[in-house]
Amino acid sequence: MRKKVTVIGAGNVGATCAHWIANRDLADVVLIDIVEGMPQGKALDLQEASPVEGFDSRITGTNDYADTAGSDIAIITAGVPRRKDPETGEYPSRDELVKTNQQIVGSVVRQFVEHSPDSILIIVSNPLDAMCHVAFHESGFPKERVIGQAGMLDTARYKTFIAMELGLSPKDVHGIVLGGHGDSMVPLPHHTSVSGIPVLELIDETTLDGIIQRTRKGGGEIVGLLGYSGYYAPASASVAMVESILKDQKRVMPCACYLEGEYGYENLFIGVPAVLGAGGIEQVIEMNLSDEEKAMLDNSANAVRAVVDVLGYEE
Ligand code: NAI
Ligand code: 2OP
Repeated sequence: MRKKVTVIGAGNVGATCAHWIANRDLADVVLIDIVEGMPQGKALDLQEASPVEGFDSRITGTNDYADTAGSDIAIITAGVPRRKDPETGEYPSRDELVKTNQQIVGSVVRQFVEHSPDSILIIVSNPLDAMCHVAFHESGFPKERVIGQAGMLDTARYKTFIAMELGLSPKDVHGIVLGGHGDSMVPLPHHTSVSGIPVLELIDETTLDGIIQRTRKGGGEIVGLLGYSGYYAPASASVAMVESILKDQKRVMPCACYLEGEYGYENLFIGVPAVLGAGGIEQVIEMNLSDEEKAMLDNSANAVRAVVDVLGYEE
């Protein structure tokens, strides 16, 4: 049976997700957007690469949710990204996007789940942790089937900067970033290694602290360079989650999960290590955190909670 992944929002992140899913032959892809013609054009363009790249995935571009019926997974990227205000020259924070994207994400989730009631939702739209709450409430899905992508990206940035500092392969850098997708995210240097060698034996604390700060501002660094947010690494992170689910790989990935007591948090989506398999989130792994690490996670949870409160749901 062919697998089917719907990507909602055919913009930068969405189209790049479609590209990687197809190129790896993970599934057929439905690319859907509110803009007419654009998802159809991107889908056809990508499909025309199939003889050259040698993939069998079928790509459909559409504005009609009927075409998404029977999807295994939806990646939700619909929304308004961080863009420079042409009048003030200022960038909105992720949190300022909350109300606009709540309406967009709520609407696309309701339309999608009507046609794919057994699917798994991977949320990408910002502000990420809050949008997970929107998808959770609007879908009515069990918590195992609503997953936020942020930790994979934040961890990838953290590992990249460590590899760049050391001039070593990023493949050998192991570590994890927990917490919300914002400036209070929590990279864990004491759980970071290069092929098992503790990173603090290879990089001095001051330099590593600089890497941690750069990771926390990683999204903003790209926005500052491009004028809009990044999409290669965000799409790569999202597609890795898709792959773990579709292939039941049971990889341990940092994901925004709905916690009901784990790490001491109730009814809150926040980034924690999770096992991703055919059932979605199959396990949340509770790490032993130091008092300092737990205090940073609490700080991040408070920042997420402040945005979630804006949504107005009763938890
Ligand atoms: P983009 O502007 O290139 O694409 C967004 C797409 O959503 C547009 O094509 C737009 O037409 C579409 N859209 C808007 N309303 C819609 C609706 N009601 N139904 C269907 N489609 C709709 O933005 P980009 O760069 O792809 O980012 C998408 C979202 O992902 C933003 O919220 C951004 O902040 C977020 N993001 C999150 C990351 C993460 O790690 N969680 C990383 C990068 C981006
Ligand atoms: C990022 O971290 C904007 O959330 C997006 O690149």
